[in-house]
Amino acid sequence: MKRFRRLRTSEPMRRLVRETKISAEEMIYPIFVIEGENIKNPIDSMPGIYQYSLDRMDEILKETAESGVSGILIFGIPAHKDEYGSQAYAPDGITQRAVRQIKRDYPDLLVVADVCLCEYTSHGHCGLVEEGKILNDETLPLLAKMSVSLAEAGADIIAPSDMMDGRVAAIRQALDENGFPDVPIMAYSAKFASAYYGPFREAAHSAPCFGDRRSYQMDYHNKKEALREIEDDIAEGADIVMVKPALAYLDVVQAASERFDLPLAVYNVSGEYAMVKAAAQNGWIDEKRIVMENLTAMKRAGAGILITYHALDAAKWLKEQ
Ligand code: PBG
Ligand code: ZN
Repeated sequence: MKRFRRLRTSEPMRRLVRETKISAEEMIYPIFVIEGENIKNPIDSMPGIYQYSLDRMDEILKETAESGVSGILIFGIPAHKDEYGSQAYAPDGITQRAVRQIKRDYPDLLVVADVCLCEYTSHGHCGLVEEGKILNDETLPLLAKMSVSLAEAGADIIAPSDMMDGRVAAIRQALDENGFPDVPIMAYSAKFASAYYGPFREAAHSAPCFGDRRSYQMDYHNKKEALREIEDDIAEGADIVMVKPALAYLDVVQAASERFDLPLAVYNVSGEYAMVKAAAQNGWIDEKRIVMENLTAMKRAGAGILITYHALDAAKWLKEQ
């Protein structure tokens, strides 16, 4: 009889043979900034997550910098929205100002800037809209402009989440031509049209006011197509690729990690976080153990970078171990 249990007899023994370990260093923590003063707005569907005005943002930045996580993913919520999302690429837009402030105060914290128009457009879609259609090619110059303006503000990584075709190439070219050849692109390559983004849209005020995102985000029935999306983003110049959401898509994560050699990120999204928090608050699950199990599963499936709202808690729990 094979005695598998020999290597499970004690915690030191189990640790010795552990195949997958997670660490704070590979985590990125999303942060929401909003215009105004003295604001720390709780997001009802995401307990523990807030929108901060610039003057209160330091509360969360300090904690993040001390936690050991490598970086933050920044989402800005502008006071003014219009058809063209002009605050997305305004030099003094809320996100640009936030990035400048973070890099001034915490130069060692990596700032990943989400690039998409939906928080900035009056219609809430990720691209320009004409007669109810989301335009692809016309949106690309705006995404490129937004990327350059965030790089100018000091963003360390540009992360397009819009799912327009050709945006990685357009952004790469614009960054190169404007003096940012060394700023990497983390592409939301396999981003599925998902009900798991529900709580985020409350947090970022970015719900589309008509229709949905299924004409640009991926159909969740498709895995091979996800690999083609990733392959194409790599060909267009992505430095890091992403699968999003995480937990219901670990098969895609695994396939992508086997096929491609680039760093692979997963985004453990708002709805995944909300489910864990809700069950934990009811006393139905052990939050810490569930979070560690989930994050480890993402890593085991092949992800090297974990974008998660649990990052600060996980970092704390990892230190206690
Ligand atoms: C914007 C964007 C979204 C998320 C990240 N960037 C929402 C969407 O596509 O509707 C989702 C993040 C989350 O749910 O935590 N395009
Ligand atoms: Zn968007």
